[in-house]
Amino acid sequence: MNISIIGTGYVGLSTGIAFCLKGHKVKFYDINKNKIQSIIKGKIPFFEDGIEKLVKNCVKDGSANFTFKLEEALDKAEIIFICVDSPICSEGISDLTNLKEACIELREKSRREIIIVIKTTINPYDYMEIKELLNGNVFHIAVNPEFLREGSALKDSLNPYRIVVGTEDKIARKKLEKLYSSFESAKLFTDPLSAIMIKYASNSFLAVKISFINEIANLCDRIGANIDDVATGIGLDPRIGREFLNAGIGFGGSCLPKDSKNLVSFSKRAGAKTTIVQKAYEVNRGQFNIAINRLIESLKDVKGKNIGIFGLSFKGGTDDLRESVSLKIISHLRRQGALVKAHDYASCEKAKEVLKGVFISDDVYKVAKGCDALIIATDWLEYREIDWKRIKKMMNGRLVIDGRNILNADKMKKTGFIYKGIGRI
Ligand code: UGA
Repeated sequence: MNISIIGTGYVGLSTGIAFCLKGHKVKFYDINKNKIQSIIKGKIPFFEDGIEKLVKNCVKDGSANFTFKLEEALDKAEIIFICVDSPICSEGISDLTNLKEACIELREKSRREIIIVIKTTINPYDYMEIKELLNGNVFHIAVNPEFLREGSALKDSLNPYRIVVGTEDKIARKKLEKLYSSFESAKLFTDPLSAIMIKYASNSFLAVKISFINEIANLCDRIGANIDDVATGIGLDPRIGREFLNAGIGFGGSCLPKDSKNLVSFSKRAGAKTTIVQKAYEVNRGQFNIAINRLIESLKDVKGKNIGIFGLSFKGGTDDLRESVSLKIISHLRRQGALVKAHDYASCEKAKEVLKGVFISDDVYKVAKGCDALIIATDWLEYREIDWKRIKKMMNGRLVIDGRNILNADKMKKTGFIYKGIGRI
């Protein structure tokens, strides 16, 4: 099939490349000319393991093409996927500027029947507005929420847990059934509003699950229980499951915080209560304080102290800094007069743009040197493999706060550190 993708961020690029690998011809369009030109040169504007090579291969074999002219993207396209971002602006309201611009351009430039699939996350009210905006042309509209995770975006696009399509349009449904016939994932075809609710409810549920385990971890800390065993024990019940029960300093990223906040906001508009999701969001907002409190308990005052932060991205495997808990911790510590240094495996360059005056390096040892304490803020599993004995010798103090519970507590203590995890004895 000839497919066009509007928007070349994580979602657009990963989705499109997955279609290329399934034997389709994909034209990628982005309004940002510089972005398209750099992708053509092989430079992907974000870090996602393996994507650079695959894009190159798909360009080489002719299955992927890039353009900054919508007319070219429309030419021959049987299906158009809209994958532009919808960042949250205030009070849980999404900024639909990019999505609206894309729809207006489509309406103006499209001259024939075409299937439009909205992948951008939009709430039910925004969907109605967008549908209205697309009115007038012969568009067959569907929503197809994405469930990929940053850091495993390609794997998730090729092999999603499930494919959800919401449409009332028979032509769109038939075409999408055909497109997804080569995917072995579970498939659910439903109406657009139910598909949208599946997306919001999924991310909100994950947010609730994380905030739940974080509260249980805080309780474990008080009574001297071990959250690792508690989470494993709970997770052995298949009705609960072990995934997303990793306690820590809270969830970040462009999706869980945004979608849970947005769900609470549009539920108010609908006159419904979503108290549990609202509380999960609030618990998460305060969870970073656990790391700060640990620091204060040991150092008394952070003013003038050298604090090393390991991890800047909102999670391991990505260079995405959006809603990163690490950045929240850094700005809090700096306000308290701490001297902060920071390390990351992928986001140093991006972080330098937003953290002026902070020493940032991709060398863990340079960051650890002279530190009074370290905080692991991102779950880069690479931190398990570094030379902690060497770090111990280079540091000024011995305190390591593992905000992601990724290190072996016993080993760290044997190496001579004062090790503190979240909910770990
Ligand atoms: C999330 C969802 O997991 C995807 O299914 C969804 O498609 C995506 O949002 C989206 O809506 O686009 P992502 O934002 O990439 O994916 O990140 P997650 O893997 O969900 O992690 C989010 C945050 O939760 C991270 O900060 C992570 O460190 C934290 N987390 C995750 C925990 O604190 N504990 C856990 O057990 C799991």
